[in-house]
Formats: sequence, structure tokens, C-alpha cells
Amino acid sequence: MRSHYCGTVTAANIGEEVELCGWVHRRRDHGGVIFLDVRDRTGIVQVVYDPDTVESFALADSVRNEFVLRVNGRVRARPEGSTNPDMVTGEIEVLGLALDVLNAAATPPFQLDEYSEAGEDVRLKYRYLDLRRPEMQQRMQMRARIASGVRRYLEDAGYWEIETPTLTRATPEGARDYLVPSRTHEGQFFALPQSPQMFKQLLMVSGIDKYYQIARCYRDEDLRHDRQPEFTQIDIEASFISDQEIMDLTEGMLKRLFADVLSVTLKDFPVIEYDEAMRLYGSDKPDLRNPLLFTDIADLMAEVEFKVFSGPAKDPEGRVVAMRAPGAATLSRKVIDTYTEFVGRYGARGLAYIKVNDLSAGTEGLQSPILKFMPETVVASVLERCGATDGDIVFFGADKASVVNDSMGALRNELARDLGLIEDRWAPCWVVKWPMFEKSREGRIGAVHHQFTLPAASPEQVVADPLSVKAVAYDVVLNGYELGGGSLRIYDPKMQAAVFEAMQIGQEADVKFGWFLDALKFGCPPHGGIAIGLDRLVMLMTGTQAIRDVIAFPKTQSAACLMTNAPSVVDEHQLRELHIRLRKA
Ligand code: AMO
Ligand code: AMP
Repeated sequence: MRSHYCGTVTAANIGEEVELCGWVHRRRDHGGVIFLDVRDRTGIVQVVYDPDTVESFALADSVRNEFVLRVNGRVRARPEGSTNPDMVTGEIEVLGLALDVLNAAATPPFQLDEYSEAGEDVRLKYRYLDLRRPEMQQRMQMRARIASGVRRYLEDAGYWEIETPTLTRATPEGARDYLVPSRTHEGQFFALPQSPQMFKQLLMVSGIDKYYQIARCYRDEDLRHDRQPEFTQIDIEASFISDQEIMDLTEGMLKRLFADVLSVTLKDFPVIEYDEAMRLYGSDKPDLRNPLLFTDIADLMAEVEFKVFSGPAKDPEGRVVAMRAPGAATLSRKVIDTYTEFVGRYGARGLAYIKVNDLSAGTEGLQSPILKFMPETVVASVLERCGATDGDIVFFGADKASVVNDSMGALRNELARDLGLIEDRWAPCWVVKWPMFEKSREGRIGAVHHQFTLPAASPEQVVADPLSVKAVAYDVVLNGYELGGGSLRIYDPKMQAAVFEAMQIGQEADVKFGWFLDALKFGCPPHGGIAIGLDRLVMLMTGTQAIRDVIAFPKTQSAACLMTNAPSVVDEHQLRELHIRLRKA
């Protein structure tokens, strides 16, 4: 039907007759000449109809935005002064010779080129129109290029793409499951996979050796700008492989994708131990573009009169940190109050600070609500330790370590953004040597990654002192986002039993995972893997803030689809077939 895509016609085609198909992006009437901007997925071209072509001119006059056209015309140079250097097609226009209106269009609910005016709800309700916007099309194209780059890279490395079921049993990734009722097994349910974790491990038992899948995963969890209930992982597993080899494979893949898709050369990823990341940044996914750092000061605070600091300083589970923001002593009281409220959302009970106006003037040169509570020598040591100089402000967090890490870690990001301190670069890193277990608020021991992660300890140590055990696990982090995570896996039934014992779920595990544990007995090779969040990767590579922008048909914050109105009620007959009766609230 066409000879060229709209966005590809250039000065090289001047004099040629072309046939184009696309949508009316804009129609302008310029004193008896009609200009149609015709758009397809490659871009926009300007088509001109003049009254000499009587029939086509009348048709061109009648079309409206988003009508679907087939245009026949001759390419010519734009008159001097009307070229547009920002457009690939900006030097030319197409003189329309014929015009077919292939389809009319109702007035769109929002202007495709003024989308920012349109609320997200209306964009999601008419997602198919939103996807017509050039920006969205570029994101979809980039996503497709990234996915095909992943396939090429992994296939070259000897990986086989294998599909795993999506009607399955609960998988242990820690979120709530999406359940699917069974018609043929009354009262029983499938779970949609939170990840292909157990299946990919079983493929290793099967001798597949190197597996990958661009896998859809489902998690019913609180949604945020970087989380969707249904998302895609680049899921990888291999046998007879070390953690370093998996990290090298993954790093190589990401470097290749950045080079091929963005022409960006990523340097070798720095490797940071989990404990170090928590110490310096209060986060297990540190944004290394952010120069702000924590300084521990509990040892200086243990004996001060200020209970807010001395309490956590003496508590083995407590933490007291200072964080210096260079040049920010000018922050107003009002702004500091908003930061105090901000850290409050993460459980902090306050936000102490010292403004350093003139270090040489001693206490006189400082401004702070907490100076009266501590000796001058202590204040001087704190300022020295965090390297404060004139014009800086130092913020303080004191509480249980988890509260300090969450609240001051979030403040670190917020503050650096506000002060314009985030460096303009790509900052990937590995976070390694994770703790194997953590204690929940209720005091239960749970796996930090999942319970099939290989502990870097003996089964006896795992049982005796689980919280001291590290895991052979690694996360890849990019600009403060957790991009992916993986680990070596347990392949020895004795070790697996020890992990379940540490978690006090021995019997429960037998019931839930017995079928999987059986497989470990039949010659399971040592193995490991990783999963990278494809949506997050595309989100970062396309420079958008919202994961919804890189998913063709995403869900809202409340996990609904505004276009199809899913989820929806089903009729009584269907429920009956599924043996389900709804509970009246
Ligand atoms: P994990 O749970 O860390 O590991 O998930 C891997 C990566 O998947 C992405 N991700 C998400 N992306 C969008 N929306 C979500 N709701 C969401 N949840 C996770 C993240 C994350 O880093 N089976 C293990 C991997 C392994 O051990 O091999 C797993 O699923 O980018
Ligand atoms: P107060 O004596 O409670 O008014 O606190 C004095 C200063 O310490 C105020 O600036 C509070 O915001 C701050 N503050 C209170 N609790 C904490 C805390 N847990 N961590 C850091 N600063 C705090």
C-alpha cells in the first residue's frame, strides 16, 4: 500500500513520487493551501494540497485529526525559510497528487501532541491513542530492541529460551499471589508465578545447563512508580557456574545493551558489600550518582545528655548518623521543617541539624537546636568526622538502625535531588554478601532473597546462628534502582533442611515444596542465576520515571486496567462452575 514510511522521506527523495499511509497529526489551512502533517510510527511528514488538484484538495479540506489516509504525491524541497532542522523530514514536503481517506476518526479525547494536558486516567482509558504519541512509540521500539538484544546476547552465550508454566503453585518471592480457581478441581486454586524460580532450578536438575526466559511474573503487592502487578523478568539460570561468572555474564549483557541501544559505554561495575552499602548510604540499592554519605557517630554520642542520641547510641540495634550536605546552610527553617516531615514518613521522630556558618568562631558560628544538649568538644569531633566546612548543614538521625537507614537513606536522595547534586551519569553497581536471613517485626526469621539461596556457611552454622550467616547472593543496582537480583542455589538437601529449620518452617515446607525438595535428591548440579526486571531496565534506559510508560497496557496504582475495566464481576453461572460463592461483606 505504501512506498515509504512518513518519517523516512528526505531530501534524497526530491523529485520522486511516493505513497504514504498514516494518521492526520495536524491539519492547517494556509490561505487556500491545505497542509496535512501525516504521521506513522517513524515520524511526521508535511503534505501540501493546492486547489489545482480539485478533488484531493476538497478531500484534504474535509479530513480531521487522526483520520487514516493514503497519500500519493511528489517530494519537493520546502521553500526557503520554511525548513525545519529539528525534523528528519524537515527539508522536504510532499505535494499531494491524490488522497484516499481510509478511515474517519472521532475527535480524540485528548490532543496527541499536547498530552501533558491530559490526565493519566484518560490516557490509560484510551491507551491505544496514547500509544500513538511519538514518545510512546519510541519507548515501545526501544523495549523491543532491548528484548531482542537480550535474546541475541544470551543465545550467543549458549542459553536456551524455555517457557515455564503460568498456571502453577505459589512461588516463594514474598508477595501475595494472584490465584486462579480451578473448575475441574473443586475448591482448588492455581497461583500465577511470582517468578519462574523453582521451574528454572528444576530445569537445571534436568540437565538443561543454561536457561533463559523473558518471563511474565505476577505479584499482588503495593504498587509504586517502579512496580507493576504484572511485569517481565529477564530470567537466567545456569549449572556448574560461579557467582562471579553469573555476574560477568549479566554485566556483559547490560554493557552490550547500553552500547547497542544508547551508544553508551559503561565502565566495569563497582562491587559493594551489603554492610558497606548500609554503612555509607543506608540503602541496599545505593544511588552512586549521589555524593552525600552517612557518618556514624554513635561512639561520640553514647555519653551526651541528649537522650534522643545517647539512647540509640547505646542500643545494640540502634544507630546514630550524621549526613553533611555541602553548601546547604542557607536552607530555611521552613524547608528544614518539610524535611523533618519527610523523614517522619519513614518513622523518624525528628531531624536534628547543625548549620555551619563559621567554623572558626566555635559554637558562636553554629546554628542548631541541639547544641545546648552536648559538650562543645563532641560537636567539634562530629563536625570534623564528617568533614563539615563553612556553609554546610549537617543532618542527624538517631533511632533503631532500620529506621535511621530508611529515613536518612530516603532523605539522602531527596536532599541531593533538591540541591542538584545528582551527577549526570550512569551509575551501576553490584551489591554482594547479603545477609541470608532477617528478623521480621514479629520476630520471625525469613530469607532476605528466598529460601533456595545458598548460604555461605555450613548447615550447622545456619541452624545455630542464622542472623550471622551471609548468602551467596548479588543484586545489580542502577542509579538507585534495584534492577535485578540472583544467587547461587542450595543443591544439597541437608543444607535446604537447615535453612527451613532456621526459618522454623520444616513441616510447612514439606507440604508446600516437597515436590521440589524431592528433585534435589536426584543428582541436582550446583547452579545459580539471576533475574533482571526488564520493565525497570527499559524505564531507566528511556529516561522516564514511571514503569507504566514502558508497558503497552499497564495497570493503575490500584492494579486495575482502565481501558478494559479489568478486574470485573463475573456472572453467577461462571462462579457456580468454579464452585465459588461470594461472601457478602
Ligand atoms: P526478585 O524478586 O529480586 O528476584 O526480582 C527480580 C527483579 O524483578 C524486578 N521486579 C519488578 N519489576 C516490576 N514490578 C514488580 N512488581 C517487580 N518485582 C520485581 C526487579 C527485581 O530486581 N527469582 C528471583 C531471581 C533469582 O534469584 O534468580 C527473583 O524473582 O527489577
Ligand atoms: P526535641 O528536643 O525533641 O525538640 O529535639 C531537638 C531536635 O532533635 C529537633 O531538631 C528534632 O527534630 C531532633 N530530633 C528529635 N528526635 C530525633 C531523632 N530520633 N533523630 C534525629 N533528630 C531528632
